[in-house]
Amino acid sequence: MQGVARNFFTLAILYAIGGMMLGLAMSISGDHGQMPTHAHTMVAGWLMSSVFAFFYHLFPAARASRLAPAHFWLTAVSGVVLVVGLYFLLAGNASIEPLVALASIGFFLGMLLFAFIALPAVWKVESLSGVMPTPGAAPR
Ligand code: HEM
Ligand code: HEM
Repeated sequence: MQGVARNFFTLAILYAIGGMMLGLAMSISGDHGQMPTHAHTMVAGWLMSSVFAFFYHLFPAARASRLAPAHFWLTAVSGVVLVVGLYFLLAGNASIEPLVALASIGFFLGMLLFAFIALPAVWKVESLSGVMPTPGAAPR
């Protein structure tokens, strides 16, 4: 793995370790009050970052895009602020809510940016495979 693919995979591992530690803390204490923080760390953190990592690994053209690092940093910063902020919000710090809201919007914008990077890469490969000659096929 290289570039943003490797960055996303490293980020995914960090989310998994942090999220599982929180899951274990909830299980051991019997207090599941941080369930949304744990759930988002695991799925929006570990699983989504893994998907991004493997996507960029499989599509080198998308990885080479100048927008890819912007996607990584927007997603990483907003995602970490989102889950850490959510932790403090659920721990009773209501004043942090605007920051969590801002981070959520940043995370959503990151997804839109990913759509902008990923969809053309996917459709380009698809359309190329449609025009590439298949071995043994009759010439068109
Ligand atoms: C060390 C491993 C883990 C522990 C100890 C753990 C613990 C927990 C606990 C105690 C809850 C709260 C359940 C409730 O109150 O209903 C929970 C919920 C949840 N966990 Fe984990 N978890 C672990 C790993 C994972 C992993 C690997 C994922 C996903 C990749 C995950 C995703 C979720 C989700 C999505 C919820 C919310 C479920 C719902 O909406 O009802 N967890 N987990
Ligand atoms: C823009 C970012 C997001 C916002 C603002 C958001 C907001 C929310 C809210 C308000 C809930 C209900 C929580 C509750 O009833 O306690 C929720 C639940 C959930 N969300 Fe998200 N979400 C976001 C992104 C995501 C993403 C990207 C995923 C998965 C990849 C996800 C997976 C889940 C799951 C599994 C639950 C159920 C577990 C729970 O109740 O905590 N969310 N989300």
